[in-house]
Amino acid sequence: RRVWRGVIEEYRDRLPVSPDTPVVSLREGGTPLLPAAHLSDLTGCDVHLKIEGANPTGSFKDRGMTMAISRAVEAGSQAVICASTGNTSASAAAYAARAGLTCAVLVPNGKIALGKLAQALVHGARLLQLDGSFDDCLRVARELADTFPVTLVNSVNPFRLEGQKTASFEIVEDLGSAPDVHCLPVGNAGNITAYWRGYVEEDARSGAGRPRMHGFQAAGAAPIVRGSVVDRPQTIATAIRIGNPASWDLAVRARDDSGGGIDAVTDRQILAAYRLLAHREGVFVEPSSAASVAGLLQARAAGRVEAGERVVCTVTGNGLKDPEWAISGAARPVTIPATVAAAATALDLHGS
Ligand code: F0G
Repeated sequence: RRVWRGVIEEYRDRLPVSPDTPVVSLREGGTPLLPAAHLSDLTGCDVHLKIEGANPTGSFKDRGMTMAISRAVEAGSQAVICASTGNTSASAAAYAARAGLTCAVLVPNGKIALGKLAQALVHGARLLQLDGSFDDCLRVARELADTFPVTLVNSVNPFRLEGQKTASFEIVEDLGSAPDVHCLPVGNAGNITAYWRGYVEEDARSGAGRPRMHGFQAAGAAPIVRGSVVDRPQTIATAIRIGNPASWDLAVRARDDSGGGIDAVTDRQILAAYRLLAHREGVFVEPSSAASVAGLLQARAAGRVEAGERVVCTVTGNGLKDPEWAISGAARPVTIPATVAAAATALDLHGS
């Protein structure tokens, strides 16, 4: 068994680092690419899930954060700042703690999942809850980083997308070539941009081919689909509750250059996919992550993905971050006396 060393050490020659870059890593990346038997049956496709919730802080953000924090340390930065719907702040807080940097995070008040809030706090980040949206948080964070000596570690930091592109390298390595279609949720639109960059670079290097990139926004927060900024984005998928994505133009280019699409899925579709993943594939993701699978089902029904095609859906974050939705949709637990008889009755067990 070989030890996985984290994305910078694994892909050093394909990332903007030098031998002098101090590597700040939690050994992120190297996540499972899991065949999805039920989804394959449902769609007639060969469906795989890229399980990014298996990263150290429970989301894909760690791939980018190892790069952003390592380069911030190299540049002599003492403090980092980010706006976040939760996962970026959790990741920034963890990597900053490891590097001994101060970390400030700006989040929309009351609109991030409890587990993510806990992560930022336990790692000692300075947490500001702004009365506004994620887009307001990002505007304020960018201005602070322009004015004061703090490094912005949102995906507008160029090193973030460089780190995140490594997921595509891993997928090609696991499959032996690029898939036909890649589905993923779209919020601030950095990740779809990063995956496309990764596939294009890998194709130039090894001739692995390129997938059609299919991104999915929540219907109440779908500015790219509508073609205009959404002032008050609404969705239960809080991670992608974004009305004015920073990487809008790059995501549109990834969509068009790859021959893919960016479409909307409703909260109802997202929750159905969320439950399907948990019930049938044994994979517990946060609701936003299920947008990729909801999107695949929709695209397949619309004929935009064909039977027999090989599809990868990125599931971006771990379900434990946002347990509220798991509990509210499930059967209520049964409370019983601590006896075999009571347990057998409650479970409808009968003797043979
Ligand atoms: N899925 C999850 C779980 C996310 O946390 C995010 C973004 C996305 C998908 C969308 O990725 O922004 O690159 O298009 N979360 C950011 C954050 C905005 O602050 O944690 P994207």
